[in-house]
Order: sequence, then structure tokens, then C-alpha cells
Amino acid sequence: MRHFLTLKEYTKEEILEIIELGFKIKKKLKKGKLKPYLKKQTLAMIFEKSSTRTRMSFETGMYQLGGHAIFLSSNDSQLGRGEPMKDTARVVSRMADMVMIRTFSQESLEEFARYASVPVINGLTDLYHPVQLLADYMTMIEHSKAKDPVVAYVGDGNNMTHSWMWLAAKLGFELRIATPKGYEADSMVIQETLTEAKKSGAKITFTYDPKEAVKDADVVTTDTWISMGLEEEKEQRIKDFTGFIVDEKMMALAKKDAIFLHCLPAYRGYEVSEAVLEGPQSVIFDEAENRLHAQKGLMVWLDKQRDKE
Ligand code: CP
Ligand code: NVA
Repeated sequence: MRHFLTLKEYTKEEILEIIELGFKIKKKLKKGKLKPYLKKQTLAMIFEKSSTRTRMSFETGMYQLGGHAIFLSSNDSQLGRGEPMKDTARVVSRMADMVMIRTFSQESLEEFARYASVPVINGLTDLYHPVQLLADYMTMIEHSKAKDPVVAYVGDGNNMTHSWMWLAAKLGFELRIATPKGYEADSMVIQETLTEAKKSGAKITFTYDPKEAVKDADVVTTDTWISMGLEEEKEQRIKDFTGFIVDEKMMALAKKDAIFLHCLPAYRGYEVSEAVLEGPQSVIFDEAENRLHAQKGLMVWLDKQRDKE
């Protein structure tokens, strides 16, 4: 049985297999020929933070695969009243076939997975957002004209940055990260991904100059400056991120046919301008839709691993 917690625990071949399955399922759905791969299965979705896309895509995805999803929020489940993760994990595992969790610390997700007896999927933690990267990579394949796209990430060194770093390190592409001073990626993630990059041939570089990162890039991406849980830092962060907006001037430094990605929700006028977000290079809504297809690929893949036991 496998969990999907970081991307770190996956090989290049496995990541590509999941993506491939996502594309196959997307095609079948569009032709009206999607098989109920997960017939009568239940996905438990535990949310300790807000969500639009993750909830919609997992719930709809599970339904399209012939299964059913249950939404549990910490506000109205016993988790919010202090029931430990390890107890919740064992209870939920007795009733559901798979679990997706969105929580704060990566440690509590990993604790849940240690106690669970069904596959556990990371639906976002403070450290990582790996399911988003499956959709982002599908979108890159669909829209980027470059053979080996160079990706520039501009903004906060956060869960999205860390997942981009693992994706690049595993798949072997070039990723340039520009953050303001004091908002760099996590040092442990830097160390581990750079070690992995040596094996895969990936090039991961860091700068404090967003223009340097974006110059001639094929894919430009960013994320909110104020991730969930950091609301109190809003005022300070807005000051510290001056110059990091992806606007038309910044986008003009990238390749002419570069694409713009954003995991969403986006904050216009902060990390990205209205013109870029709504402009011809932006593929953000295809990216959002790909959450649905990529995660169906992931759930079917995880289910298959269980069959191999
Ligand atoms: N990108 C993403 O995970 O969106 P939600 O927070 O709406 O789920
Ligand atoms: N970095 C953002 C991603 C939201 C999908 C957050 O954690 O809030």
C-alpha cells in the first residue's frame, strides 16, 4: 500500500505513470467512456483549512470514478475538539477506502499516515502541496511549446515552492526560484532536493532577483504571499514582497510563448496583476481543471498498488 505525502517518496517513473493515467482518464471522460475504476469506494476528505478546488476536484473525481466522498471539516468533526490524529486515522481507515487530508503540519499528516491502513493523500500542508503539482505538470505538457521547459517561480518560499522543487528534482528540469530575503524555501527541502537533482540532472537555482529568474523562462508561476495560517503577517509581507508581482513587464522578460501558472486562489495586484492573470499567456483555469483529472489518475494508481499486495 502506498501513500502520497510529498513527491519525495516517488520515482520519476511513478510520477509519470500517474500523469499518464490522468491524461488517459481525462480523454475517456471527455468521450463519455470513463470506467468506474473505484466503484463503491469511499474517499474521506479531512479539511483543517479552507478549500475550493481541492474539495471540488476530489469529490467530483471520486463520483466520476463510481465512488463516493465524505467531507469532514475540523470545525464540525471531533478533530476540532481534540481527538488525536492517530485515533481518527484508525477509525476513518475502518470505514473509508482512501483518505485525503489538508492540514497544517506535515508531521501530523505523516502521523495520520502511519496509523492509517488505507492510502493517505496530502491535500496540502504548510510544507507541501504535491497534488497541485500533478495538475501543474499536466498543464505544462498540454500548453508549453518548449521541449524542456524552464520554470521560474516568483514569490514566497512556501508549500508550492517546495513541491515544485521536488517535481524538478525528480523529473530533471530547470527550476529557478526568486524569493525576497527572509522568505527563502525551507533549508531541509533545499538540501534534499539539491542532492536528488544531482542524480536526475535537474538544475534548481535560487535568487533574490525575480527578473533574473524569469528571463527567458518557458513557464512563469507564483502563489499567494500570504498562505493559509499566515494572515497575521499580511501587512509585513506586502511590504517585503515589493517588486515581486508578476505583471506584464515581468512576463515580458520570459520567452514570448511562455505560459503563466497559478495554483489559485490568486490575489490580483499582489503576487500577480489582473492583466497577466486574465491575459493570453495565462492557463490557470485549464490548470485548475487538471486537478480533477490528475487526482483521479492518482487515486486509481494508489488503488492499483493495493491490488498488487
Ligand atoms: N489550489 C488549491 O489547492 O485550491 P483550494 O485551496 O481552493 O483547494
Ligand atoms: N500556499 C497557499 C496555497 C493555496 C492553495 C496556501 O498554503 O495557502
